[in-house]
Amino acid sequence: MQHLIKNQLSRLTAHLVVALAAMVGIGGATRVMEAGLACPDWPLCYGSFLPGHQMNLKVFLEWFHRFDALVISIGLLILLILSIIRRAILPLWLPWVSGLMLTLIILQAGLGALTVLQLLPSGIVTAHLAVALLLVGIISACHQGLIYELSQKRVNSDQFIQNSSVFIKSSFQSQKWWPPLAVLTTLVVYSQCLIGGLMATQWAAQRCLGKGEVCQWLHFHRFGATIATALVVTFIVASLFTDGWSRRQWPLLSFATFLLVLQIGLGHASMQLVLSAPGLTIAHQITAAILIATLSALTTRGIFSRMTIPSKSTLF
Ligand code: HEM
Repeated sequence: MQHLIKNQLSRLTAHLVVALAAMVGIGGATRVMEAGLACPDWPLCYGSFLPGHQMNLKVFLEWFHRFDALVISIGLLILLILSIIRRAILPLWLPWVSGLMLTLIILQAGLGALTVLQLLPSGIVTAHLAVALLLVGIISACHQGLIYELSQKRVNSDQFIQNSSVFIKSSFQSQKWWPPLAVLTTLVVYSQCLIGGLMATQWAAQRCLGKGEVCQWLHFHRFGATIATALVVTFIVASLFTDGWSRRQWPLLSFATFLLVLQIGLGHASMQLVLSAPGLTIAHQITAAILIATLSALTTRGIFSRMTIPSKSTLF
């Protein structure tokens, strides 16, 4: 029963990671297509839940963005309710984390309303992106936490572990440097996303490439990309060159490498085309969200692995 409910909640959180990353993408599409004010009122659109008569691509994007947010809110509410009702068999942190995410989604709805009512000011649109990416990071961490709880049972019954505490430690624990380096890398990439958001919401890249105005944002974003890349590469290389637990994270580490290369490629391609390909800009934003989810997952794995270590008595 305990295993079943944890399994179901881990599936729910996996779906929520995808739904939140998709929401960031739809939000990006809404901005690029200049559809942010396509629904003039809030929370309804043209006074109705589904504005059939006014529907066109722009209205659809803005309407779908709100609909996705509603679906995510319901998912988070279910997570919170279940984590309270079943608290006896679920991790203690789950109701707190679910409650935090629900609070953030309410804040997000408020910021969404402000973007419409105040006609898309750059600071508020970027804050909206900041909260969305924070939610992506937290839900990804929450998913990893649940997976960890599920795997604990399997680890305890594993029979193949050798009778050596050194082997056990390096097999089940991340190195000491892993959590701080992972947290730092995630925070730097998150900050890089916010610089990108501030730049995009002032149309600074277009203005720089077209008229040579406000180029400092583009320079800042490029500089930030260099720092973020250096940190991500250091983190990945250090992990892959360390034996035991760290190297066993290679699937997620390889995925992070792929995302980083893709992100830089998309950024450069967008610049080459003078931001005339909305698809590239939207892909740049979605990749940023997936990168945050991946780094947050790696960070959580590292932290959780250090919190408990199976004792010899449970191992043999
Ligand atoms: C770790 C690396 C990077 C991350 C995490 C990142 C993230 C982001 C994010 C989140 C945005 C906001 C998107 C939006 O609101 O639509 C953005 C915008 C942008 N990024 Fe990056 N970026 C990275 C690297 C780069 C690189 C290497 C370039 C190429 C020089 C680049 C070029 C751009 C441009 C031109 C925009 C503005 C798009 C627009 O105005 O619509 N980015 N970035």
